[in-house]
Amino acid sequence: MTPENSKGQYPPSDEYRKYAFIKSEEEYYRIYDESIKDPVAYWVKQTDCIDWFSKDWKEAFTWDKKENKFTWFKGGKMNVTYNCLDRHVKNGLKNTAAIIFQGEEDDDVKVYTYGQLLHEVEKFSNVLKSKGVKKGDRVAVYLPMVPELPITLLACARIGAVHSVVFAGFSSDSVYNRVVDCTPKVMVTSDGSYRGGKKIDMKGKVNEILEKDTSVTTVVVVKRTGSDIVMEEGRDVWWHEEMAKAPIRCEPEVMDAEDPLFLLYTSGTTGKPKGLMHTSGGYLVGACTSFRNVFNYAPGQVYWCTADIGWITGHTYILYGPLSLGATTLMFEGVPNYPENDRFWQVAEKWKVDIFYTAPTAIRMIRKTGDEWITRHDLSSIKMLGSVGEPIDADVWKWYHKTVGGGRCPIADTWWQTETGSILISPMTGAFNLKPASAMKPLPGIEPVIYKEDKTECAAGESGNLYIKKPFPSLARTIWNDHEKFVETYWTAFPGHYLTGDGARVDEDGDYWLLGRVDDVISVAGHRIGAAEVEAALISHPAVAEAAVVPIPDEIKGEAIYTFVTLKDGFEESEDLKKQLIDQVRNIVGPIATPKTVQIANGLPKTRSGKIMRRLLRKIAGGSKKDELGDTTTLIDPGVIDVLIKGRV
Ligand code: WT7
Repeated sequence: MTPENSKGQYPPSDEYRKYAFIKSEEEYYRIYDESIKDPVAYWVKQTDCIDWFSKDWKEAFTWDKKENKFTWFKGGKMNVTYNCLDRHVKNGLKNTAAIIFQGEEDDDVKVYTYGQLLHEVEKFSNVLKSKGVKKGDRVAVYLPMVPELPITLLACARIGAVHSVVFAGFSSDSVYNRVVDCTPKVMVTSDGSYRGGKKIDMKGKVNEILEKDTSVTTVVVVKRTGSDIVMEEGRDVWWHEEMAKAPIRCEPEVMDAEDPLFLLYTSGTTGKPKGLMHTSGGYLVGACTSFRNVFNYAPGQVYWCTADIGWITGHTYILYGPLSLGATTLMFEGVPNYPENDRFWQVAEKWKVDIFYTAPTAIRMIRKTGDEWITRHDLSSIKMLGSVGEPIDADVWKWYHKTVGGGRCPIADTWWQTETGSILISPMTGAFNLKPASAMKPLPGIEPVIYKEDKTECAAGESGNLYIKKPFPSLARTIWNDHEKFVETYWTAFPGHYLTGDGARVDEDGDYWLLGRVDDVISVAGHRIGAAEVEAALISHPAVAEAAVVPIPDEIKGEAIYTFVTLKDGFEESEDLKKQLIDQVRNIVGPIATPKTVQIANGLPKTRSGKIMRRLLRKIAGGSKKDELGDTTTLIDPGVIDVLIKGRV
């Protein structure tokens, strides 16, 4: 047991300390301080965590500050899949489990050793090649959490194709936007998926999308649910049929460290999702070293990250981080509450999971169902816990520590983003006394800084905007097709500093506390949703004149979506209309963006320049009174405020 000390902190046990990668404060500060004195030298040293065909970079790091373009290890040659599979097969892990697939039904299990996974990946690489996919081509992936998903990604990386995964929970329009932007030749999808015991259609959505003019010439379809689907002759092929005839050997392509590895689209402050572009060498060095530094994985352990591979967490910490280090990673198809509320714990007990990494929204949901669901299971195999995606508050942290961790497991509250590719801030759980709700320390090589609006640095205890000084290897290089947007979004607020979009403060011990987004991005159950995307979906309804979307606090999901809508002349408020609007958002953006509330309004608060003041709407939705709204003098029509407050749902 590691009881809380007199300062309310949780020291690691001696046993855990010994086993951790970074074992003491002194060790952390020695590594960290040196890394910040000379980050390039630090990162060059870290390149040893992967195998290179050649390390012939002229300069390890280049940075054109005017263009906001930077490179890491350019000229170095390597292959991501070679590092995740071949080298382990050569080095004695051929028969070690790489991926344990646990399906939604308990008896639906597949274990892939490193040797078997390589075999599948080589074959699928050849399938992709046979469909004309070459180095640099994009492949769109719209798959549920089935083994074919990681096999597809590793096959792309093997032949130098750039994968772009679209989360399986997105609806047609969201998929369409993400697919057309990157002009893929091939799309890999499935006949459907399972969720909570139900079959969900996927291929129908793909057919809908491909009715429009796109670059896709081949769709490879995985048979998962056996649902009746429409296959289009000449375009659609079955995964299993192609695999049956694929040649067995496929050599890994020699890639430059700066060659793109994948695109991943994420919501921003405008309606158009941004395709963040990650590279091969820098990304893998970041994924591999951060996984090692944060999770303290030991050979033989089972590591489980409950995320979906459709998000960056799944890319880096189900797939690339663990596999690059030769770990055994558990991949789970299901949900926390099916068939019953103890599904996570049943799976953790069954596989004797050592490391468990999940999101605060899942923890809050599980906590609500009662401790009994957890305590009935033997979770003594778990040695450490992780949290990611949103701030975890101290109460929930303590509950997680006590009930899931049995009071003995440290928690790594890991902060990072789709853009950063890998964890940047996390407690070094073997070195420091943990502070509930603090993400604590920057990883070596990462230099965060917090500035006030006037760009002066915050003192200890003051809150401001979080930036990262200087690019680091796993940071996205650009936004696909829109470098200007990349510059404007991340590098303009404070030239030479990466703007995270998060608020934060640092305390007198140098520990970081993350405070949530400071822009118009809403985090529903840890999923990033752009207010603008939801507004665009609402406005596409014939009755809607204008829409403004803001977050309100939600007990389980962290934030929920509150929408203000004004109607066009001739339309009237009704329950049916509100339902239509909610469905509209579900169908266009996806069920994860389902609005909690629709408030029909006569007008929205606007500045003289016509900008909707979301800051005010956020407060109104949250239940603030008029005198708590702050300055409203810049509004064209301040009278609108009273009406909005009265109409609050
Ligand atoms: C945003 C990034 C990268 C993980 C999955 C989400 C929030 C992430 C934490 C944390 C507080 C967190 C931030 C960030 N966030 N981790 N430990 N504590 N907030 O990736 O969709 O790119 O979202 O998630 O607001 O900016 P993402």
